Amino acid sequence: MFELTGKQAVVTGGGSGIGRAIAQLFARQGAAVHIIERTLAAGQATADEIAQAGGTAQVHAADVGQQAAVQAAFAAIGRVDILVNNAGIAHVGTVENTPEADFDRVYQVNVKGAYNCLFAAVPRMREQGGGTILNLASIAAHVGLADRFAYSMSKGAIHAMTLSVARDYLSSHIRCNSISPARVHTPFVDGFIAGNYPGQEAAVFDKLSRSQPIGRMGQPTEIAALALYLCSDEAGFITGCDYPIDGGFIKLNT
Ligand SMILES: NC(=O)c1ccc[n+]([C@@H]2O[C@H](COP(=O)([O-])OP(=O)(O)OC[C@H]3O[C@@H](n4cnc5c(N)ncnc54)[C@H](O)[C@@H]3O)[C@@H](O)[C@H]2O)c1
Repeated sequence: MFELTGKQAVVTGGGSGIGRAIAQLFARQGAAVHIIERTLAAGQATADEIAQAGGTAQVHAADVGQQAAVQAAFAAIGRVDILVNNAGIAHVGTVENTPEADFDRVYQVNVKGAYNCLFAAVPRMREQGGGTILNLASIAAHVGLADRFAYSMSKGAIHAMTLSVARDYLSSHIRCNSISPARVHTPFVDGFIAGNYPGQEAAVFDKLSRSQPIGRMGQPTEIAALALYLCSDEAGFITGCDYPIDGGFIKLNT
């Protein structure tokens, strides 16, 4: 079950956190993994870990927000059986304290970055006779989170793009789904706590842990396990779906 042998998988943002865990697990299951990373050293570190464990991985330095760079990376990769649109950035703020430059930056990475990879991957998958796409949304796409205006915008767009692509490419045998994690303990979370709540790191970490009814943050490996299922042939009947993976955040926070 959940074998990816013989498949080429592209994981964006595979140098850290959830993307790193997905790249490692997919490689362990036999995929040839291609990491598209803005931070080359981080992507290379993941690729080296994969190689040391006996897997196959290659890094392509690119900012997913730049279409020419993304096209060049996909041209170098060739066949794409699996695309995981994972690269993303955080932002804290209401509409009033989200200046245009911040809004544009979040859009550029989280929305346009996913679009650029879809734009590059979908024609290849169509010509190959199929493929599977997994987009990283968030609980922010589904519930009103305080102080997450631009981030919520971007993850709502991810959810909508997931449905659109799933609908348009049914007959091309391209499945497209998204997953919506609540808090997962990654450098992304540590970075935004440090950047936005200096001096209150431990208290904010504890508060964010308790905001999941299950009482803790998720682990990147737990997100990777769901990603593996959704990208495997065993999930062949699933398309156009979003899966919360949230310690009860959406349904049990009463
Ligand atoms: N961690 C959470 O709590 C959480 C919750 C819900 C959704 N998510 C989503 O999961 C995804 C991964 O989050 P994470 O916590 O692992 O983040 P992370 O910051 O640990 O890792 C993100 C990786 O993406 C790379 N990256 C960022 N911008 C890029 C760009 N423009 N081009 C190429 N690479 C780029 C970074 O260099 C980094 O290696 C994001 O889309 C995030 O929105 C995270």
